[in-house]
Amino acid sequence: MIDLKNKWILITGASSGIGMACAECFAAAGMNLVITARREERLTALAETLKTQYNIQVETFCFDIRNAAEVETFSMALKEKNIIPFILINNAGLAAGRSKIQEGRIADWEQMIDTNIKGLLYITRHILPSMISVNQGQVINIGSTAGHIVYPQGNVYNATKFAVKALNEAINLDLVDTNIKVCSIDPGACDTEFSLVRFKGDKEIASKVYEGYEPLHAQDIAEAALFVSTRPAHVNIQNIVIYPTSQRSVYVHRKLGS
Ligand SMILES: NC(=O)c1ccc[n+]([C@@H]2O[C@H](COP(=O)([O-])OP(=O)(O)OC[C@H]3O[C@@H](n4cnc5c(N)ncnc54)[C@H](OP(=O)(O)O)[C@@H]3O)[C@@H](O)[C@H]2O)c1
Repeated sequence: MIDLKNKWILITGASSGIGMACAECFAAAGMNLVITARREERLTALAETLKTQYNIQVETFCFDIRNAAEVETFSMALKEKNIIPFILINNAGLAAGRSKIQEGRIADWEQMIDTNIKGLLYITRHILPSMISVNQGQVINIGSTAGHIVYPQGNVYNATKFAVKALNEAINLDLVDTNIKVCSIDPGACDTEFSLVRFKGDKEIASKVYEGYEPLHAQDIAEAALFVSTRPAHVNIQNIVIYPTSQRSVYVHRKLGS
């Protein structure tokens, strides 16, 4: 098993949900953290808590992952601090809206494509070379079951997560001559701020998404990421699909009350 203590992990989208749970989980494993997102107050509060609780180093960086120049500035700042992540978790992402293509909002499409695909690419392009220079590490891409099966009115979100699946496979191929491992963890319904963001702050619609069954919790995904990251050097888990027990596919849910 790989010992993660005192190594660095970079987690994008750590101000909430799965990213925040990963920060807590890997901090408990003794890792130093680089956490990023746009909401500075949340990142600062998380950093203070985890530093005190686990006696680790935490660096926070606030920027919009859609902005290529901001991502480049961030990567230069990491270099100046001599931080080479042992683990990179490409987690920042979102769904925006849920409508038919013929009724969709172009601004929503651009936000999803720019965050889920281009943001992931910008970060990976800037961080991978340093990981390659030490020839070790783990990349984890947070995909989705939405990247395996299309669902009604999921269209552009589905397309972005199909792209993450393709990129996960492609990055694996590109790194064949290195020791760096690449995995996508693909959750089904997970109770985070995801639905609140998707439905633009409408709490009533958002809470309905998780009504009548127990969804995944962010910590379930973080624990899977920890499992993946601690396998021996010769073991590369390339993909994990995780549904809640009451959801066996995007289309098949346990009936309410049963
Ligand atoms: N929840 C689910 O059911 C589910 C299922 C499958 C896959 N996923 C995937 O899991 C990942 C995490 O989502 P979550 O469920 O944890 O949702 P969440 O609670 O809304 O967290 C999303 C995170 O992404 C960050 N983010 C969004 N846009 C960003 C931007 N432009 N620049 C920088 N950071 C940005 C947010 O931070 P700021 O807003 O502070 O920037 C936040 O920290 C996403 O890739 C999502 O597609 C979620």
